[in-house]
Amino acid sequence: MEVLVTGGTGRLGQRISGPLQEAGHSVKLMSRRGAGPGGVRGDLVTGQDLSTALRGAEVVVHAASDPRGDYWQADVAGTRRLVEAVDRERLRHLVYLSIVGVDRIPFGYYHAKFATEQVLLASGLPVTLLRVTQFHEFVDELLASTRRGPVLPVPMGWRVQPVDTGDVAAHVAQVVGNAPTGGVIEYGGPEDLAVADIARAWAAAREPSAHVVATPIPGKLSAALRDGAALPSSGERGRRTYGEHLQG
Ligand SMILES: NC(=O)c1ccc[n+]([C@@H]2O[C@H](COP(=O)([O-])OP(=O)(O)OC[C@H]3O[C@@H](n4cnc5c(N)ncnc54)[C@H](OP(=O)(O)O)[C@@H]3O)[C@@H](O)[C@H]2O)c1
Repeated sequence: MEVLVTGGTGRLGQRISGPLQEAGHSVKLMSRRGAGPGGVRGDLVTGQDLSTALRGAEVVVHAASDPRGDYWQADVAGTRRLVEAVDRERLRHLVYLSIVGVDRIPFGYYHAKFATEQVLLASGLPVTLLRVTQFHEFVDELLASTRRGPVLPVPMGWRVQPVDTGDVAAHVAQVVGNAPTGGVIEYGGPEDLAVADIARAWAAAREPSAHVVATPIPGKLSAALRDGAALPSSGERGRRTYGEHLQG
């Protein structure tokens, strides 16, 4: 099938062509810059080049997002634009990359992801909403940016189940070939881990001089993450552990 991946230059987008092509699909990777092999331009905020990018698509893997920008525009309104621009006669499956816990973790970006899911559920398109846990690279980036000199402060008691981005890409290729579920499925890594333990493993492998300090964080967001709201309760699991990822 002809597959258009939105977010083609992202962490996941960069890993996804291989598994999709191995499954026999032809792949175009959309982003604002249209960079890289198979890259095409398309902007979810302005709508520029969107129809051209979507032309001929039988499958859309919707992995574009702007968590650091105006995600109500890029993610929610942008997905409305995507729904309007898609060729309904040709489209067989739209797989949306969401996040485990978007329905129960009180965090602005997650509210926008949940609202995006509602846009897709109301669209009448053949959708699967694939909620995934945190990618290993994303965890690394968060920890690197959290470090303050010799101290690496982390929230006490938060639990996550990070997943290998390559495992996610392979799973997306599998989901693309399945019938649309019309609802939510989950996917996560192999281990339920305390954020403090992840930080200690990261520090040992990457920044041995950093000292991890677990700090209690008040509030509803923190309570939800302590209660396991970011952990998947169903769906398949990736195989590669965070420790294996750190070993390279
Ligand atoms: N990272 C995680 O740990 C994680 C975990 C679970 C689920 N997810 C979800 O999985 C998806 C992919 O995540 P990721 O980490 O791979 O994303 P990412 O690295 O942040 O990449 C985002 C992509 O979206 C594109 N983009 C941003 N604004 C756009 C716009 N206005 N129009 C068109 N494209 C735009 C970017 O391309 P340009 O900047 O080149 O346009 C880039 O290719 C996201 O929906 C995310 O919420 C991520």
